[in-house]
Amino acid sequence: MAFAATRVYANPAGDAPTTPDKAITELQDWSQALGDGVDAKPYGVPSKYEAGVVRRNVEWLTASPQSSVNFTPLHDLEGIITPNGLCFERHHGGVAEINPAKFRFMINGLVEKPMVFTIDDLKRFPRENRIFFLECAANSGMEWRGAQLNGCQFTHGMIHNVMYTGVSLKRVLEEAGLKTNAKWVMPEGGDSAAMNRSIPLFKALDDCMLAYAMNGEALRPEQGYPLRLVVPGWEGNMWVKWIRRIEVGDTPWHAREETSKYTDLMENGNARRFTWEMDAKSVITNPSPQAPIKHKKGFTVLSGVAWSGRGKVSRVDVTIDGGKNWHTARLDGPSFDKSMHRFYYEFDWNGEPLLLQSRAIDSTSYVQPTKDELRQVRGYNSIYHNNAIQTWHVKANGEVENVEIS
Ligand code: MTE
Ligand code: CO
Repeated sequence: MAFAATRVYANPAGDAPTTPDKAITELQDWSQALGDGVDAKPYGVPSKYEAGVVRRNVEWLTASPQSSVNFTPLHDLEGIITPNGLCFERHHGGVAEINPAKFRFMINGLVEKPMVFTIDDLKRFPRENRIFFLECAANSGMEWRGAQLNGCQFTHGMIHNVMYTGVSLKRVLEEAGLKTNAKWVMPEGGDSAAMNRSIPLFKALDDCMLAYAMNGEALRPEQGYPLRLVVPGWEGNMWVKWIRRIEVGDTPWHAREETSKYTDLMENGNARRFTWEMDAKSVITNPSPQAPIKHKKGFTVLSGVAWSGRGKVSRVDVTIDGGKNWHTARLDGPSFDKSMHRFYYEFDWNGEPLLLQSRAIDSTSYVQPTKDELRQVRGYNSIYHNNAIQTWHVKANGEVENVEIS
């Protein structure tokens, strides 16, 4: 495949341009005067030309912005790390603005000695740095019954992938000393929603973390400053933000968020409880409805992200003809357990309409299902835990639309 310079594409015959390109022949403003000195922005922000790269919400989805969600602009991102200012937010009672000097974290219940920690106390435990995705169980929930929202930001943007710094939860629980009948822990938030969940002890002692930093700096208030629970690979709702307490018990608490919410209503009318692990999933971020093809036919870069709550993503398949032919995508960038992976498929677009899909396969050999395959098992009542294959319809003019074909 030829990688011709894109300016030549503007002139398909390959002739020399007839009008001079002013971007070359004229001196630009930025070349003619000194720019801002250092410290013009003590905390840096993106170029003003990137102003469209923002989290977005869908106003009709929720009644108030305090109990709501906005979405990560996946189509504008590269690599696997979500910048802190673009991590989607999901709050049930707004953002708690916690003064760290007044912050306390407690452990009580079935422990030898109930304990209280300040943030500085927690920073004296040995530290860990780990990269994990957090996906809300409701991600893609609006797409169960058919294609609905036009953009991967809205269909798949309830996910972020950052590096956390903090303490292993096991280490802190050991400090308090677990009683022999301890089986479950209940993290509780210090926000106005006081969100709580039941987590089995085996997970708490496996890879959970109490994190105070993300991507090298303190957590953002939106993400739980000064402390949040990290529950790798499990649904985002369990990752309690602004965490103030962990109670240790011998049975689950059956809190609101694990009964009336975050359970899956099956076809027979029974609700399936405790769907913790997030199944393997992927989405093509470019092209997508918010990122149409602008260059007409020819060399085209298709890109996307894939993740699994059970381990690494070992392979991603891509089709551009609605599943008639599948191609192995090229995975690029670091591959970590329960972290986002980046994939690419480069192809020569003939300018005709396309049906794009991606399918993730994880390190347990689990294969991401089609929507029909998922609905055969789960029915049509569900909202949460939709990890089905997404289809984008690329039209001849390069515009892209959310559609469903299987
Ligand atoms: N923790 C508290 N205390 N309050 C909340 O509203 N929302 C939960 C979880 N933890 C929530 C919370 C939900 S449903 C999700 S998906 C994640 O936080 C969202 O994390 P984020 O805002 O960092 O994206
Ligand atoms: Co959620």
